[in-house]
Amino acid sequence: MAATEQPLRRARTRRAAEAAGPVPAAPRSTVPADPNAVIQLRGVSKIYDHATGAGLKQATFSITPGEFVFLVGQSGSGKSTLMRLLLKELEPSAGSIIVAGRDLGELTRKKVPYYRRNVGVVFQDFKLLPNRTVYDNVAYALQVTGHSRKDIRAKVPDVLRLTGLSTRLHNYPDQLSGGEQQRVSVARAFVNHPPLLLADEPTGNLDPETSIGIMQLLYRINRAGTTVVVATHDSAMVDRMRRRVIELNDGLVVRDEQAGAYTARDENTAEFGALMRGEPAPAPKRMADLGPDELFDDAFRDDGRTTR
Ligand SMILES: Nc1ncnc2c1ncn2[C@@H]1O[C@H](COP(=O)(O)OP(=O)(O)OP(=O)(O)O)[C@@H](O)[C@H]1O
Ligand SMILES: [Mg+2]
Repeated sequence: MAATEQPLRRARTRRAAEAAGPVPAAPRSTVPADPNAVIQLRGVSKIYDHATGAGLKQATFSITPGEFVFLVGQSGSGKSTLMRLLLKELEPSAGSIIVAGRDLGELTRKKVPYYRRNVGVVFQDFKLLPNRTVYDNVAYALQVTGHSRKDIRAKVPDVLRLTGLSTRLHNYPDQLSGGEQQRVSVARAFVNHPPLLLADEPTGNLDPETSIGIMQLLYRINRAGTTVVVATHDSAMVDRMRRRVIELNDGLVVRDEQAGAYTARDENTAEFGALMRGEPAPAPKRMADLGPDELFDDAFRDDGRTTR
C-alpha cells in the first residue's frame, strides 16, 4: 500500500463516521437483574459500523440454568454476533450481558481466558487442529486449562467413549467423516463439563441423519446439566425438538417461544431420536427389560453412533 493511502483512508473513515452521527455510548440498562438466569441480556446492541448497521438491537432476555435454547433467524440476522458477544469476543455497543451473575463488561482482559474455560464452543466448521490426533485435539483443551497429565489420561478416553470415538483415538481429522469430526469437537467442548455450551450452526455442514446424531449428543449434554444454546438455520429440526426458540430478524428478537408444557417431560434418547426424525416414539421399556447401558440411558454408547 502506498504511504499516503493509510492516512487518506483514515480520514475517509472518520468523515464517514462523522456523517453517520456518533456511535452511541454503552448506556447502562434499566432492565432489572434476573437472579435466576445463567445468561441475561439487558438491552444489548452491537453496532459494527454505520455502513453495515447493527448486528444486534436492544436484545433483552434471560436463559435459566439447564435450558436448551435454539437461536434461529435468516443469514445475517445476528446469531453469530450474539454467540460472539457471549464469548466476549465482541463488546456490546449498548447494554450488558450477565453470565452466571457476572457482568461480562466488568471482566478484565486477563480474566477472559478463565471465563471461557466455563463455556464449551462448537462451530460449523469444527475448528479441529489438523496436525493432531483425535485424542490430542481433546487433550489439548485440557492442557491449556492447566489439567494434570493424570487428569487428562482419565478424562479424554472417557469423553471419547461417550461420543462414540474410542476406535478413532489415533486418527487425524482429515481421516474422519464430517459427523465424526463434529463429534470430536463436541467431545472437546464437553471434556471440561462446562456449565454452558454454545454451538453455532453445529450441523451446518452435515447431512440430516448425521445432524440428528450431533443434536442427540447436545441433548444428552444438556440433560447432564449443561445449559445449551444452538444457533441454526435448520427450522425443521427446531420444530421437531420442541425446545425454547429465540428468533432474530435483522438484529431484533422477534420471537421468544418458551418450550411448551408438553416438553416438560424428559424424553429418553430413543424417544428424542424418534422425535427428531418425525417418527412415532418407540414404546417405553420396562425397567426390568433394560440392559445396563440403557439403565444409564447412555446416548454415547461406543458403537460409533448415538443411541436410538
Ligand atoms: N465483523 C463484522 N463487521 C461488520 N459487520 C459484521 C461483522 N460481523 C457481522 N456483521 C454484520 O452483522 C449482521 C449479523 O451478522 P451475523 O454473522 O451475526 O449473522 P448470522 O445470523 O450469524 O448469519 P449466518 O446465518 O449467515 O451465519 C450482518 O449484517 C453482518 O453483515
Ligand atoms: Mg452465523
